[in-house]
Amino acid sequence: MTRNDWQDSRGNKDRSITRPGGSTMEQGSAPADRVETTNAFLVGDSMTGGYGQGPDILHDCTIAVDPGEIAVIVGPNGAGKSTGMKAVFGMLNLRKGSVRLDGEDITALSPQDRVVRGMGFVPQTSNIFTSMTVEENLEMGAFIRRDDFRQTMEQIYDLFPILRDKRRQPAGELSGGQRQQVAVGRALMTKPKVLMLDEPTAGVSPIVMDELFDRIIEVARTGIPILMVEQNARQALEIADRGYVLVQGRNAHTGTGEELLADPEVRRSFLGG
Ligand SMILES: Nc1ncnc2c1ncn2[C@@H]1O[C@H](COP(=O)(O)OP(=O)(O)O)[C@@H](O)[C@H]1O
Ligand SMILES: [Mg+2]
Repeated sequence: MTRNDWQDSRGNKDRSITRPGGSTMEQGSAPADRVETTNAFLVGDSMTGGYGQGPDILHDCTIAVDPGEIAVIVGPNGAGKSTGMKAVFGMLNLRKGSVRLDGEDITALSPQDRVVRGMGFVPQTSNIFTSMTVEENLEMGAFIRRDDFRQTMEQIYDLFPILRDKRRQPAGELSGGQRQQVAVGRALMTKPKVLMLDEPTAGVSPIVMDELFDRIIEVARTGIPILMVEQNARQALEIADRGYVLVQGRNAHTGTGEELLADPEVRRSFLGG
């Protein structure tokens, strides 16, 4: 496979290759891993920034997802995967770069306003209200809705039937996999145009992970593009239309899930050979 020459670690970042104002990508002859993101449905584009006045965690980092896609972000612990998600959701002040949703620059919007524009986000931690019932969690998810959300709730119960059975139970009493279903369900209550998930399968068994992936694929098939971080890199790339390997806040490898799984360097460094 041809190396991605604008996102590799060797410093060749000639944006004229892929960016507006430069030459456009040669149709058909562009390397498959030089993912075009300029017009992506949701894109955090060339993001540089960190927490507060602290050092930059993200360095010219680009992540994107298009309609009909599952995009997966993988990489070592501390690589900046969650930081990248938070940046796209507006929880970080970017020093450089932008975030665009459906053609609109939303870099200056608050997270709340991004939810109103159609972003659903399930953070890695503290993503449910443990003392509230399952159903109350879902109701909280509907906070921006002015219309009747009962039909959406029924759809979520159809997607995750166990949540219907446990709807009167405090969410904190549920298993790890069930809590993640509550968190995803809560995000779906806003009827998002795009869903962002940070490690939705953290701490669950392989069987539960497979089930969650199946449900996530089901959500994607309903037309909601999904941008997700996963620590189960191999399994996640198997369902990814688009994959990003982040290392130290930078794009290290980009391609389709299939391409990344086949890339000897990705395999050696990130997939255990
Ligand atoms: N709230 C925070 N304040 C300051 N630094 C943070 C914060 N959250 C994460 N970091 C730092 O940012 C870096 C990337 O962390 P993170 O994005 O959580 O990585 P990943 O999700 O890839 O494991 C780490 O060095 C981490 O210590
Ligand atoms: Mg993380």
